[in-house]
Amino acid sequence: MNNIILIGYMAVGKSTVGKSLASLMNFKYRDTDRMIEKREGMEIKDIFKEKGEPYFRGLEKEIAKNLKNTTKRVVSTGGGLFMDKEVRDQLLKEDFVVFLILPMEDIYKRIQRNDRRPLAKAASPEELKERYEVRLPYYEKAHVCIDTKGKTPYQVAQEIRGRYHQWMEKGRK
Ligand code: S3P
Repeated sequence: MNNIILIGYMAVGKSTVGKSLASLMNFKYRDTDRMIEKREGMEIKDIFKEKGEPYFRGLEKEIAKNLKNTTKRVVSTGGGLFMDKEVRDQLLKEDFVVFLILPMEDIYKRIQRNDRRPLAKAASPEELKERYEVRLPYYEKAHVCIDTKGKTPYQVAQEIRGRYHQWMEKGRK
């Protein structure tokens, strides 16, 4: 209840901003991908390779559902988590959901810098863009959408903190 959930495409900075925001708010920080890796004792790319994407999505959903009983957390989510309707409805009802926006060319540059992301590894810029366009209408259901281009993680975190307080003051609207 009233957790802050960061959603958005791969490599937009959900984890970096999330850590900064958690310390600013004095909330606990959680990252769904890291929780899955810890639980499985494996990296995400190996879970995809050895157990498959549906298995990964199942774990991701279970973790999201367990957030229902928690509060005062900043949670960075994997880029696909919000595509699940049940998860989306729960998060929008219980928590404050923030969509972080970054232009595709910046995302693409960042993604190329590491190979941890199984869905990005072999994808062309066109494929990445297509997947983003499919997801965008769902991401845009967030309570707020924040443009991160040219801002430091701390600036983005401050902006989110302000919007969160406004949302709470207006009775979660
Ligand atoms: C995914 C994004 C990844 C990770 C997995 C699937 C996606 O997280 O959950 O590789 O479907 O967009 P990041 O958004 O942190 O890269």
